[in-house]
Amino acid sequence: MRDTNSRSRSPPAQTPGPFQVKKKGGAATAASGCDVDAEPGDKSWLTGQPYSKRFFEILKARRRLPCWEMRKEVVKMVRENQSSVLIGETGSGKTTQVAQFLLAAGGDLGSGSIAVTQPRRVAAMSVAARVAQEMDVELGQEVGYNIRFEDVTSEKTRIKFMTDGMLLRECQTDPLMSKYSVIILDEAHERTLATDILFGLLKEVLQKRPELRCLVMSATLEAEKFQDYWSGAPLLRVPGRMFPVETFFTLRPEKDYVAAAVEVCCMINQQEPPGDILCFLCGEEEIETACFEIETRAGESGCSTMVLPLYSSLPMNQQRRVFPPAPEGTRKIIIATNIAETSLTIDGVVYVVDPGLFKQMLYNPRTHVESLLVSPISRASAQQRAGRAGRTRPGKCFRLYTPETFEKELPESTYPEIIRSNLSSVVISLKKLGVDDLVHFDFMEPPSPESMMRALEMLHFLGAIDDEGDLTDAGKAMADFPVDPHLSKTIVAACSRGCVSEVLAIIAMLSVPPPFSRPRHAQKAADRAHRNFASGYGDHLSLLTAYSQYSNNGSKADYCHEHFLSERNMKQAENVRRQLAGIVRSRGLEKESTEKNGMITTNVRKSFIEGFFMQCAHIDQGGKNYMTVRDQQMVAIHPSSFLQHKPEWVMYHETVVTDRCYMRNVTAIPAEMLIEVAPQFYHPDTCKLNEQAQKILQRALPRSKR
Ligand SMILES: Nc1ncnc2c1ncn2[C@@H]1O[C@H](COP(=O)(O)OP(=O)(O)OP(=O)(O)O)[C@@H](O)[C@H]1O
Ligand SMILES: [Mg+2]
Repeated sequence: MRDTNSRSRSPPAQTPGPFQVKKKGGAATAASGCDVDAEPGDKSWLTGQPYSKRFFEILKARRRLPCWEMRKEVVKMVRENQSSVLIGETGSGKTTQVAQFLLAAGGDLGSGSIAVTQPRRVAAMSVAARVAQEMDVELGQEVGYNIRFEDVTSEKTRIKFMTDGMLLRECQTDPLMSKYSVIILDEAHERTLATDILFGLLKEVLQKRPELRCLVMSATLEAEKFQDYWSGAPLLRVPGRMFPVETFFTLRPEKDYVAAAVEVCCMINQQEPPGDILCFLCGEEEIETACFEIETRAGESGCSTMVLPLYSSLPMNQQRRVFPPAPEGTRKIIIATNIAETSLTIDGVVYVVDPGLFKQMLYNPRTHVESLLVSPISRASAQQRAGRAGRTRPGKCFRLYTPETFEKELPESTYPEIIRSNLSSVVISLKKLGVDDLVHFDFMEPPSPESMMRALEMLHFLGAIDDEGDLTDAGKAMADFPVDPHLSKTIVAACSRGCVSEVLAIIAMLSVPPPFSRPRHAQKAADRAHRNFASGYGDHLSLLTAYSQYSNNGSKADYCHEHFLSERNMKQAENVRRQLAGIVRSRGLEKESTEKNGMITTNVRKSFIEGFFMQCAHIDQGGKNYMTVRDQQMVAIHPSSFLQHKPEWVMYHETVVTDRCYMRNVTAIPAEMLIEVAPQFYHPDTCKLNEQAQKILQRALPRSKR
């Protein structure tokens, strides 16, 4: 890259690319020294065990953190106020230190455990490991973490890092959060769905438990909004950061952000002094492509490099690989989604590359379409990303956008998830938590009435709530499953139709990234291998065949290799199936089947119709396209489908919009089956579908049992 803009200050000699220097980081506070009155003895006050040498080494570093200096103020504020807000720059020690101060302060604050929520699993797990190290205890004992599918805590656990989703799940069995004396909602600026719901629930619990304390923390928060919501909660600001981060911007907008990111990573790798690189991209596919590209180029240039991907669908043990230091003389390059944006300290990261984009899920209640869109990040996110550098030494952040874009085009903060989501899962879990009056629930930002109505209407159709809006028995069973209500309804239906084992396998396959791999060099061979799984009924039953053959095979790795299945995704599907089967078993949901003689393929399809009868489409008059029943959208079967013909009616798992709107994971459904399983929607005498749909249904009526 050449610096062609004469108006900008030239970047420092070692800075790659046309970057402008925007600002230097704040004053270092390293000289603040240690506090004598906090001198620990030689034994842990918590365990009575002698402290290790490493404890004292880490303690020295902890005492230099900005939060350390403010520890008395933090304790005083939390002790004296039921809810309070703490804002401190990234890396100042909020996540790792504050819970330790509160626990050590004792009294009411230390009388129970302290929960610290994180929006992401990898963050909960890694900060717990760090805090266990700082306190000189074994991870899972006094300090632990709890994330979906992994509970590393014990009876002894006093500080528990957990995803916000896990705390929400705990509330289902312990609505007063009685285990905890303090609840810290960390990274509140992310405004995840779970955090927003926890806000509302906690407000109610605080009234019932005057001794409970709640602390909201973040580096980048619109403080007043939070203070207002928490009825004038006090605010403490922790000034200063540990190490400066120099920030650079590009002079022109980048056309291809993946190519630009790869370019900058390679240039840093070749030109900059040692230090690891953390680069943000938007999704799995992009990340894998960039990793391949960077690895190839690093190999050609002879730099010793270790390139590691990091995204949420990667199994936890692979996500963990980003933390250990690279071998001496090797530079680690981590390419991550925004799961690495908040909370994480990856020791050794000196350079951050930020293209300024992320993938955001958007839901349109009018069309019911949920789509993942690449969108600009917020200024708060940009600050968080830069904050991943400069944590253990001075750092640099390369923003692949211009200062004008930063100022004018990036929104100030992240748009809360609750106002861009399909709310049916939220409504069902709130109902299960005993919140019946959703209209008066104290949301910080109430979702639109239309989204709420759509969600209630959907749950009513699914039989999860009755006419009064109360959870039915089926609804209560559905709320136990950590999947969307369409799927949980399908599971509950399958429990009575004698095919739950098969349905769980299909749902597990639908819940993981695509299990069928199609490597570029062997696409034809892969297609041939996949054809062995094809069922004439379509994708759901083809997924079942693939899963069954895989799980019955003695040598799974070889099987995956030969049949072009992604071993990683298949393992994940096995794990999901196991978890869901555990819930079915523990709740005793499986019933004596009333349809023992029915074919399994019929029962499986009927179960899916119970959950997805609103996601069906019928062929149009020309016989070419399909019309969805719910909102009359024109759609087509996705080219990757196993379905080789065009049946009159199909049921689909989801729609995706690329060059046109496609249905993905599609199964043929005879019209009479729709009338039989969902007469409230499909009986030709009462249905409100269009004329052509009604005609087909009328013809099918004599064949149905209704
Ligand atoms: N795993 C680790 N290895 C080395 N140093 C660490 C580690 N975790 C934390 N630190 C040190 O502790 C400091 C404080 O980390 P902490 O996660 O508490 O900051 P924070 O204020 O929560 O930041 P953020 O707003 O980014 O979440 C880091 O800047 C770093 O110097
Ligand atoms: Mg933090």
